[in-house]
Parts: sequence; structure tokens; C-alpha cells
Amino acid sequence: MKTLHKTVDDAPAARRRLGPVLAMIRPIFARYALRLALGFATLVGVDFLQLIIPRLLKTAVDSLAAGSATGKSLAGISGLILAAAVGAALLRFCWRYLIIGFSRLLERDIRNRIYSHVLKMDRSFFEKRTSGDIMAHISNDLQAVQMACGIGLVSAVDALVMSVAAISFMAYINPQLTLLALLPMPFLAVSTLFLTGRLHHRFNIVQEQFSLLTEFVRSTLVSIRLVKAYTMENMQRKVSDRLGKKYVRSNIRVAMIHGLLFPVAALVGNLGMLLVLYYGGRFAIEGRISLGDFVAFITYLYMLVWPMMAIGWVANLTQRGLTSLQRIHELTTSIPRLKDLADSSSPEVIDPWFRLQNLTFSYQSSSRPALQDLTMELRGGIYGITGRTGSGKSTLCQLLARLYPVPDGCLFFGSRDVNTLSLDTVRSRVAYVGQEAILFSDTIAENIAYGKPGATAGEIEAAAQKAAIHNEILDFPKGYGTTVGERGVTLSGGQRQRLALARALITDRSVLIIDDALAALDVETEHQVLRSIVSRQDRNLILIVSQRVKLLSETDRIFILEKGRLQDSGIHGELLARNSLYRTMNEKQARESVGRHVPVGQRPV
Ligand SMILES: Nc1ncnc2c1ncn2[C@@H]1O[C@H](COP(=O)(O)OP(=O)(O)OP(=O)(O)O)[C@@H](O)[C@H]1O
Ligand SMILES: [Mg+2]
Repeated sequence: MKTLHKTVDDAPAARRRLGPVLAMIRPIFARYALRLALGFATLVGVDFLQLIIPRLLKTAVDSLAAGSATGKSLAGISGLILAAAVGAALLRFCWRYLIIGFSRLLERDIRNRIYSHVLKMDRSFFEKRTSGDIMAHISNDLQAVQMACGIGLVSAVDALVMSVAAISFMAYINPQLTLLALLPMPFLAVSTLFLTGRLHHRFNIVQEQFSLLTEFVRSTLVSIRLVKAYTMENMQRKVSDRLGKKYVRSNIRVAMIHGLLFPVAALVGNLGMLLVLYYGGRFAIEGRISLGDFVAFITYLYMLVWPMMAIGWVANLTQRGLTSLQRIHELTTSIPRLKDLADSSSPEVIDPWFRLQNLTFSYQSSSRPALQDLTMELRGGIYGITGRTGSGKSTLCQLLARLYPVPDGCLFFGSRDVNTLSLDTVRSRVAYVGQEAILFSDTIAENIAYGKPGATAGEIEAAAQKAAIHNEILDFPKGYGTTVGERGVTLSGGQRQRLALARALITDRSVLIIDDALAALDVETEHQVLRSIVSRQDRNLILIVSQRVKLLSETDRIFILEKGRLQDSGIHGELLARNSLYRTMNEKQARESVGRHVPVGQRPV
């Protein structure tokens, strides 16, 4: 919700770079030009019909004053007034449908653009922006643009047509009286500008308070077990109460401005009315205007109140819309650091091998490299990666899965520098199971099939069997149709990991990277899973990050990372013999394993 505060500060920047920003919506206006033209034509039609009503009234009043009115003539005029009102109502429906509908189409187009751009961005982009920030763009900013291009534009055109026409009609009746009646109007425009500005500002604060409150409730609900475990209920209640009070206070402030806006408008409108009543009345007595003119004049004056208010309101809407559009423009023109180059190729056949050549990598937010001078070859077979926490294991996996950019000449896939290959070439061959299992709030079957859209029930089951979760799925109330996540059953950490693994196993990608994703499994299940993975003939390269020596001992080669560097590599026996870190890990786990499962005296690995 940070963006909410930027409205005022960002205004000069918005003005400076208006050209490219407006270029973003120009094609959308062009695409719907016919719709807009029709919409504005009906809008002008409504204004015209509204403006002829006072003329009809004038005719009726004049005929009454002259004594020439008959029941029939009055009924005729009433009929015309009714027809004008009905016509205006019908046309009003049309312009609403056409123009407000246009603003919704524009909103949809921009939303699609933001969404597809966000999907193109790399991990660094998401590390700089919170999901709240992106949501604010998609909701608040988009709404501001939609309002400016919809109701804002309508009000501007409407106010212009109505005020020019009403003032012309008034001036036609009597120019002097018109000048007098218009005297208070600028004050109305200025006060609306000021009050709607305050209104927007306070409304932003309400929005911000609301999002703080809902975010607080959401985080409490998500971590309800923690709240209860630490008996923090009272504390949570107090914070919620405090946030609730602030929310109410800011709402009252909005209501106060709202309460001022219309009385101020009425006051100014009535001031004009007083002037017209006094001077117009005298003009009528003196015969300079007819009684009908006098009535029509007052009606036109009332019709002017809204356009005058609209000037201030539209000015605010436009400013907010431009600022928001500029923020959206900035977001959608940010360039991913990791992207396909124009000359990147996508060979059909490529060996699923990785080679790292003095690879050094730092995260954007950190000056210390997470990986340093790494040289290794991963050519078919099953590899283990281990090392202390923070040693760079996950970073390495994510570089292999092409989630972060790497310098040229450091990382090769199938003997080609990855930077010369399209991202999809590598990504579509790598099945990556991250350290944290990410599941969608959907059925188990859909969660697994995400790895292979359109997978058959048989394929889904086979993948679940390989990930050793098939039997547990059958125990759920609806089997594979059971919903998981917030609206469904809660899975254990190990179940989540195996589902994420099944999602990777259903793909027929030739590289499988498992980043510590078996950690929550017991030793037996872990082995079952490993067996089924290794037994797959078509998978050429398997990389398993693990801290468990038992699992690592079954791989073809083990790499040990330490503070981002390759500390050692070799097969299990070699490392046991020469690497103290590996030996210590083994001894520690052997002791724990003896304590838990293995009868005393039986030597673990
Ligand atoms: N997104 C990130 N931005 C900045 N620094 C990061 C990021 N992710 C990891 N790091 C840093 O990079 C280093 C390596 O982290 P990495 O996650 O690769 O370690 P790891 O070996 O996987 O650890 P663990 O065993 O705890 O999973 C750490 O110092 C970590 O703080
Ligand atoms: Mg990790």
C-alpha cells in the first residue's frame, strides 16, 4: 500500500513524462473510437434534451401569464417534457453502456498487459517488489485510470456541453443577468477542487487503514496455531482493536468532507439564485424579461451547479489517473534482467548436461557472492549436493533452472553457453522441485497435473506412486479430487513435498533437480522415493540436494559446498575417508539414527 502515498509527490514526474505514458492508452482509445464517438453523441443528446425542458417550461409559463393557456396546450407541453425526459433516460443508458463499458475494456486491456508483463519478469523483480505492491498496481492504480477514462471523461464532456449550452441560453435571455448569476460559480469550482482533493487524500488513508486491518486479520488467521501456542490472543485482539479504531476515525473524516461538499454546492447555487431572484425579479417587473424567461433562467442556473462542481472533481480524477498511469507505465516497461536475447537459439536436440566454469554469482541485494568460482561437470547420472546451511546449494539449483541471470561463459548446457540458448530450451528440460513445496488451492490431481497440462488420470496416479504418496491420497475423503490448501485439507510437510515431487515426476524432462525436498520424509519413504526416481531410464541427470548422508551415499558423485565455494567432491567412500565435514555429518546422523531406529550394535552407514 506504499503507492497510495505517492499520489502528490509523483505528480511532477507524471507531467514530465506524459508523452510515453499517454502513448500506452492511445491505441486503446483508437481501437474503440467508434464506440466512444457513439457514446459521446448520445451524451450530447441527453444534454440537449435536458436543455430543451426549460424552454418548454418557458412557453407554458408565458402562455399562462398571457392567459392564452388551455388545458390542451398545457397537456401538449407536458407530453413534450415527458418525451424529453424519457428520451434523456434512454440515451443516458446508452452512453453509460458505451463509455463506462469502454473504461472497463480499457481496464481489462491494461490489466492483461500488467499481468503478462509480471509473468515475464525474473526472480530479482519479485525480490524488489512485494506482492502487495503489485496488487496495488492491479487494483488501486488501475481503478484510478479506469475512473479518469470513464466517468472522468464523461463528466468533463458533459460539464463542457452543459455549461456552454446553459450559459448561452441564459445569455440569450439576458446577458446582464447571466453575468450576475455566474458571479458565485468560480467559487464553487475552486471549493470543489479543494474539497475533492481532501476527499481523495482522506479516502486513500481509509484504504490504507483498511488494508492494514485486513492484512493483520489475514496474518493472524494464517498463523493462528502460533498465536495460540504463544497465548497471544489478547495481544492480537488489542492490536486489532487499535487498527479498527483508526479505521473508524479515518472513515468519519471522509464522511465530514462528504458532508461539506454538497451543502457548499447548495449554498453557492442558492447564492446565485438569490441574485437572480432579486435582479431577475426586477427585470421581470420592468418587463425586460418575460415571466417564462425568468422561470427558464432559474432552471438553467440549477443546471449549472453540477458542471461547476464537475470542474474540480474532474481535475482531481485526471491528476490521480495520470499519476497511476505513470506508475503502471513504469512497471510495464521495466526490463527483465533475465530474458531471451534476439539471437538466442532453441535447438531441438540438446544433451542434458551442465558444466560450470568459474561461476561466480551475487544476488542483486547483496555485495557478497552467494557462489564463488564454481567449476563442476554434471554429465548424466545422479549427483548429490550437500553443505552447511547458507552454503549456496539452493542458489546453484536456481541458476541451473535458469531463474537468475548468469554471466557469459560460466554456465553451459549441452556444451552451449546458456546465454546463447532461449530460456525455454533449458527450463523445458529441467524439472525443479524447490525447497518449499508450493501447492495451489486446488485438487490434488490438478496440483500434480500442473507439471503436464492435460495429463491423464493414469499418468497422475503413476507420478503419485513414484513419489510414494498414492496410498495416502486414496485415504483422503475424495481421493485425487480432494482440495488442498486454505479451502481444503491441510497436508503434512512431508505430504506437501511428495505432491510437489509428483508434479515434477509427471513431466518427461530429462533433468531432475530436487532441492532438499525430501527432508521431511522418514528414511524409509525417502528410500522408496529415491528408488522410483533412479529406476527411470529416460532421466539423464538427477541432482539431489540433501543433508542426509544415507541418501547422498546412493548417488554417483557428491559435491560439498562451503560458503559458496566447492569445497570437495567425490564418491561417498572417498569423502568419508578425507573430508572432515562429511565425516562429522555421517557420525552425527549415525548416532541419531541409532538412537531412533537401529538396534544398538548395528553399524549405520
Ligand atoms: N534471494 C536472495 N537474495 C539475497 N541473498 C540471498 C537470496 N537467497 C539466498 N541468499 C543468500 O545467499 C547465500 C546462499 O543461500 P542458499 O539459499 O543458496 O543456501 P543453501 O545452501 O540453500 O542453504 P539451506 O541449506 O539453508 O537451504 C546465503 O548467504 C543467503 O543469505
Ligand atoms: Mg537451500
